[in-house]
Amino acid sequence: MANGARILLIVGGGIAAYKALELIRELKRRGHESRGVLTQAGAHFITPLSIASLTGDVCYTDIFSLTDEAEMGHIELSRDADLVVVAPATADLIGKMANGLSNDLASTTLLATDKRILIAPAMNVRMWLHPATQRNVETLRRDGVTIVGPDNGEMACGEYGPGRMAEPVAIADAIEARLKAGGNIIALPPETQLRPASPVQSPPPQQMMSRANPKVASVPPRILPGKGPLAGRHVVITSGPTHEPIDPVRYIANRSSGKQGHAIARAAADAGAKVTLVSGPVSIPDPAGVEVVHVESARDMLAAVEKALPADIAIFAAAVADWRVATASKEKIKKGANGPPALALAENPDILATVAKGRKRPRIVIGFAAETQKVIEHARAKLKKKGCDLIVANDVSPETGIMGGDLNAVHLVSADGVESWPSLPKEEVAQRLVRKLAEAFRPA
Ligand code: C5P
Repeated sequence: MANGARILLIVGGGIAAYKALELIRELKRRGHESRGVLTQAGAHFITPLSIASLTGDVCYTDIFSLTDEAEMGHIELSRDADLVVVAPATADLIGKMANGLSNDLASTTLLATDKRILIAPAMNVRMWLHPATQRNVETLRRDGVTIVGPDNGEMACGEYGPGRMAEPVAIADAIEARLKAGGNIIALPPETQLRPASPVQSPPPQQMMSRANPKVASVPPRILPGKGPLAGRHVVITSGPTHEPIDPVRYIANRSSGKQGHAIARAAADAGAKVTLVSGPVSIPDPAGVEVVHVESARDMLAAVEKALPADIAIFAAAVADWRVATASKEKIKKGANGPPALALAENPDILATVAKGRKRPRIVIGFAAETQKVIEHARAKLKKKGCDLIVANDVSPETGIMGGDLNAVHLVSADGVESWPSLPKEEVAQRLVRKLAEAFRPA
């Protein structure tokens, strides 16, 4: 196949397994080849034959299958792809991945691979929200695994909430973005010499599973720097709203969707940068090829940004709450005879100003200004007050549909003047902004 990629698709056991078949079709439509691995649980929902028919290749199911081993050692299987995709990724598979367990072909392949991994979780809403699953997902994020979804919606079990596997088209989009972001290989330290995998060198499965190399297992994966105009640069981006707790169940929030900040993170990663995205609570998936730190409040966001520094560029696209409740109640505030409670507010730290005026100031600091009137005038004032190099200003009056929408019309306000762009998809605004940054970092 000329320009296509080779995807190893691991299909876990869940009702969403049927969507894996549509994913194979979608990947084929886009010119990519897939090869399937079906778990034992997955085989209760779809058959190896349906996967094999659609991929046009053997569907691997059993680590102890001598036929498969003779044709292809599973070390080779794990590395003979450009990307390993798990869809659906069940709570069980996620748990195994997070803890390095390997007792079947899917988990052994995932542990043995030196390729990037993308997973599309699918499970019951309570299983997804369970602290154990969330802990495991966080571990995978830190390990550099790209996570797509899950979506909110009605589940096969009748419950409603997050847990539905992302749609095949969205997974295929994320796969292409991940492939485009480069840094596909999980690098081991230079002193760790691995022989190239080949079927001849692969030991039998029993031997392989006991031949754990502790040196390899303890090394955190590292993304090899990608190629592109921002290769070698570190970009820190904030995105989404913040949630400021009133009590354990209530919070102050705003309507930011995170679409613009996430699009910038993705565009910067596509341009080869190492990207740390500090995201408030959003319902959109993490962009591929980006390290995402999930936070709730403004104070958590500031701490995460400071931890991510130093950086070459910082872009503050988050709609940070200006105020928080001075003392959030530890217990749920009850309705009482005294009428509504009075909530005393305290000012939140200004993350942009703190970083722009701080000791670790990145070379370029960009702020956003969401205004409903006198957009440029307010942006000019913010540029000065916050000490940044550029303010990306937009009108977020409800009639513009920008807040939460897919389009954005921005004005770039800097010391050099104002540059106004037409209404563009947020992805394009992101790409244009990243092109500008690349120009600023182009060697003279
Ligand atoms: O809310 P405001 O209009 O001041 O936001 C302007 C810029 O400042 C945005 O880039 C926003 O992300 C950033 N900001 C921040 N911390 C705050 C308030 C705003 O980083 N507490």
